[in-house]
Amino acid sequence: MTAASILFAGLFYGATAVLVVGLALRIRLYAVTPAPLKIPTTPAPVTRAGVAWRLAREVFFFESLFKASLWTWLFGWVFHAALALVLLRHLRYFVEPVPAILAFVQPFGIYAGFAMAAGLAGLWARRFLVDRVRYISTPSDHLMLALLLAIAGTGLAMKFLAGTDVVGVKSFFLGLLVLDPQPLPDDGLLLVHLGLVVALMFVFPFSKLLHAPGLFFSPTRNQPDDPRERRHLAPWAARLEADRKP
Ligand code: HEM
Repeated sequence: MTAASILFAGLFYGATAVLVVGLALRIRLYAVTPAPLKIPTTPAPVTRAGVAWRLAREVFFFESLFKASLWTWLFGWVFHAALALVLLRHLRYFVEPVPAILAFVQPFGIYAGFAMAAGLAGLWARRFLVDRVRYISTPSDHLMLALLLAIAGTGLAMKFLAGTDVVGVKSFFLGLLVLDPQPLPDDGLLLVHLGLVVALMFVFPFSKLLHAPGLFFSPTRNQPDDPRERRHLAPWAARLEADRKP
């Protein structure tokens, strides 16, 4: 075992713990935060089933972004859809045997790498080229885009320029899963790719990337438009009312 293998084994265990616990705590916080008012963005569905359908359209098609800004939607949607394919392709490093569906997506996953980079480049260009977006962009907005683009860039470089020992990569990660660390191939590009992934896992629960779980807890999206049929009463407001009763 090289020093790099031991370091990366430790980093991945640490990053996974931070990602899983950090995300769980965030989601719990979102779940217990009261929504004091009825504020669905109208026109909104009037039933729970309608809300589920609207949320699904939001998750899969980014519907509200489509209505708001076609360019941002195009780059954003392409990036996220490609990311999903890329991650699906990566699952082969973590399972053995590889199920047929994962084998099937492999070629699509490769080209999705380019689409992912193109989407990110478009989203980043927007932060420089659109005045009002440049004005409100913070260092973290740029940093997240740079991090994701660097992950895609090093991944594509491994695939198309330098090549790496993917069998060795797989045995390292299968080893981590059964708490039996194996050596990691000694390849600079791979170490950079994985180092950036570790950084992404560490910052995820503290970053704007929380919009992924956050979408499901957004009152403007997850409430049915039924204030006339059903009185909206937050738990804290109910307690206030109970206290005031003679
Ligand atoms: C522990 C997690 C990860 C491991 C072990 C890993 C490993 C690899 C390896 C070995 C390659 C080269 C594939 C080949 O030569 O056939 C690659 C490519 C790539 N990786 Fe990763 N990667 C990880 C996470 C990620 C993440 C989170 C992203 C995106 C945010 C990403 C984006 C890419 C892209 C776009 C490519 C090029 C397309 C492809 O070959 O799939 N990787 N990765």
